[in-house]
Amino acid sequence: MIILGINAYHGDVSAALLRDGELVAAVEEERFTRVKHAAGFPTNATAECLAVSGATTGEIEHVAISRDPRANLLRKALFALRSRPRRGLVADRLRNAGRVREVAARVAEVLGLTRDQAGGRMHWVEHHPAHLASTFFCSPFEEAAIGAIDGFGDFVSTSVAVGRGPTMDVIGRVYFPHSLGLFYLALTQYLGFWKYGDEYKVMGLAPYGQPDRVDALRRLVHLKPGGGFELDLSYFRHWSEGVSMTWDDGEPVIGKVYTPKLEELLGPARRSDDLIGPRHEAIAASLQVVFEDAAVHVLNALHERTGLRRLCLAGGCAMNSVLNGKIRERTPFREVYVQPAAGDNGTSLGAALYVWHQLLGQPRRFVMQHGYWGPEFAEEEIRRTLDQRSA
Ligand SMILES: [Fe+2]
Repeated sequence: MIILGINAYHGDVSAALLRDGELVAAVEEERFTRVKHAAGFPTNATAECLAVSGATTGEIEHVAISRDPRANLLRKALFALRSRPRRGLVADRLRNAGRVREVAARVAEVLGLTRDQAGGRMHWVEHHPAHLASTFFCSPFEEAAIGAIDGFGDFVSTSVAVGRGPTMDVIGRVYFPHSLGLFYLALTQYLGFWKYGDEYKVMGLAPYGQPDRVDALRRLVHLKPGGGFELDLSYFRHWSEGVSMTWDDGEPVIGKVYTPKLEELLGPARRSDDLIGPRHEAIAASLQVVFEDAAVHVLNALHERTGLRRLCLAGGCAMNSVLNGKIRERTPFREVYVQPAAGDNGTSLGAALYVWHQLLGQPRRFVMQHGYWGPEFAEEEIRRTLDQRSA
């Protein structure tokens, strides 16, 4: 049985293909378009997965999409009623939900099927369960605690679960607008890095500074008993104003997510062309400390609830390797598995694995031992291309 997984109209769009529950191909669209973190629909990645696997479109029985516009609808409605976000925010979200629904049409087009044929094979897998599945079902663990921490997806920013064999149970969630990924993004923008996915630069800047703004930054994230947390929303505008977000074909773009109150707290924001000074390094170092403390708070509570010593981690925040290196030191977890495509790129794989195990009840048979699932090029082919280009 062939299952095609797709991450579309988000960052890092990708495709992955399972044959009888084993991964045979996975690749991101950015590898073809050369647009970093490419959004839109993974047309080339889907075609490549078919080429690498040798599968025909007729063989694809299930198409798993790592979004579910119907997920958490009640939460979304309550939020809209209580917070009365500006019309721009609601319009943006509706536009994206509309785009996600267009996925069926794009799947049909790329696979050469009718809309009805494509629609009949599709499964909408909520973003966070796709993250959770993307790490646990690839891991060598029969039983493990699972954590997904990111910006947002389908109105959730953090989720924790327990995985046993071919099933997983979500036991906790943190909902929009509270998010550790958003916290890191706000400070990344404040420090003058505006490209989607620039957080790793700030993580790299952190060790150069003294973390002497930790107390100030703790005002932005309040840790709650039981592993939860809340943002002080007066420092953020993603929840109240129409922060522009673009998930169409091309590079994702996110508008400013912090309010002027952050500059009142920390001083003027760095412009992209300003030199980086000790103040910026100190803020990056402090951000990393506050972020790590919050993530460790989530993970320690997860251990307390489950008693498990094995942890599988995913979500964009699981790309913070500095945090990952401290998990064994700061939590009781002894064995940690982070799937190589822990960001949104891996949700295509996660959605496919979710369908195979969680929906179809199939047993575990795959452990991801490496990250090389895309196109291959023989040395001779590379030499020929270089010769042609240099001619
Ligand atoms: Fe995500």
